[in-house]
Amino acid sequence: TKKYTIAVIPGDGIGKEVTPWAQKALEKAAEGVAEFEYEHFDLGAERYLRDGAILPEEEEDRIKQTDAILLGAVGDPRIKAGILERGLLLKLRFDLDQYVNLRPSKLYRGVTSPLADPGDIDFVVVREGTEGLYCGAGGAVRRGTPNEVATEVSINTAYGVERVVRYAFRLAMKRKKHVTLVHKKNVLVNAGDMWQRIVDKVAEEYPEVSHDYLHIDATTIFMVSDPSRFDVILTDNLFGDIITDEAGAVVGGVGYSASGCINASDEYPSMFEPIHGSAPDIAGQNKANPTAAILSAAMLLHHLGFDDTAASIDAAVEADIEELGSTARSTDEVGRDILARM
Ligand code: NAD
Ligand code: IPM
Ligand code: MN
Repeated sequence: TKKYTIAVIPGDGIGKEVTPWAQKALEKAAEGVAEFEYEHFDLGAERYLRDGAILPEEEEDRIKQTDAILLGAVGDPRIKAGILERGLLLKLRFDLDQYVNLRPSKLYRGVTSPLADPGDIDFVVVREGTEGLYCGAGGAVRRGTPNEVATEVSINTAYGVERVVRYAFRLAMKRKKHVTLVHKKNVLVNAGDMWQRIVDKVAEEYPEVSHDYLHIDATTIFMVSDPSRFDVILTDNLFGDIITDEAGAVVGGVGYSASGCINASDEYPSMFEPIHGSAPDIAGQNKANPTAAILSAAMLLHHLGFDDTAASIDAAVEADIEELGSTARSTDEVGRDILARM
């Protein structure tokens, strides 16, 4: 049997508390199914404060040789915003060509949504992962002076957009066969127009898939007024970041929201991580919900082709939420409860 190596990067804050549970779930699910080996990487705030390293080339090379990555979260209030986020997390997404940031939202039975009448929520956001405003194109001149100018340029390539659009349509074929393009084409006329034209072109190859368009601002309305209308939401990097946090809140909290950063060719590993951050406000208190991290481990298994094994995690999570979703529990209690059901 093939041996799989999983890179584990717990990172910072609650990332360090939830990732061990994701790894434990992975270990338990994989028992007797496949041989998984874990390689731990000491990357994040503590490492940076200790020796200034963010993502040394030698470590990135080792990460590139693994079969998949399990990541917690990065970011620490002691460190200037962006240093770790760009230098570690985004660097991995870009260098490993993780063109799709896949973010499912499902309202589990047993979870209390903040919406009075949430309906049957089950959609996936296909967020572009390597372009847009995240590229780092732009700069600051005359910094700190009254004449300072700061720019951030959104890069959208036909190549990058088309491959993620194709992913969304392929995914829709396996689901309810509906794609909603979300953008702001009434203002961002260059990129918005290109996204729309590419969607229209690709859609011709998928006559069974219907598609529509929403501006990002209206999307935030429907996300709370009628979230069950969505099946596959296709959008760019920044819009996708924002609406998936909102989607997380709508399905009961980002503690339930998993994600996968999917590599374009399997040349490099894909990366699985909860959508939430390091949550400095609750870090170190054994309060964080590890469910999103555990569901990310299930997404990892799906990605490697272990569908039944992944389903065993999904089922345990679903049962746990249904029975105990509304009880206040610590990180470790939730982790233990889910593991006990597997
Ligand atoms: P956050 O997601 O860390 O926290 C937002 C709110 O959600 C907080 O109140 C937090 O307590 C709560 N929360 C998050 N995860 C939770 C969980 N599992 N269980 C219960 N509650 C949870 O976002 P933020 O506060 O904007 O960012 C904090 C830091 O994390 C920043 O440095 C930011 O850059 C970083 N960040 C990293 C990632 C990532 O690594 N993927 C994602 C988002 C933010
Ligand atoms: C996320 C985070 C990251 C993003 C940050 C930390 C770079 O918010 O994974 O959602 O914006 O993609
Ligand atoms: Mn985010």
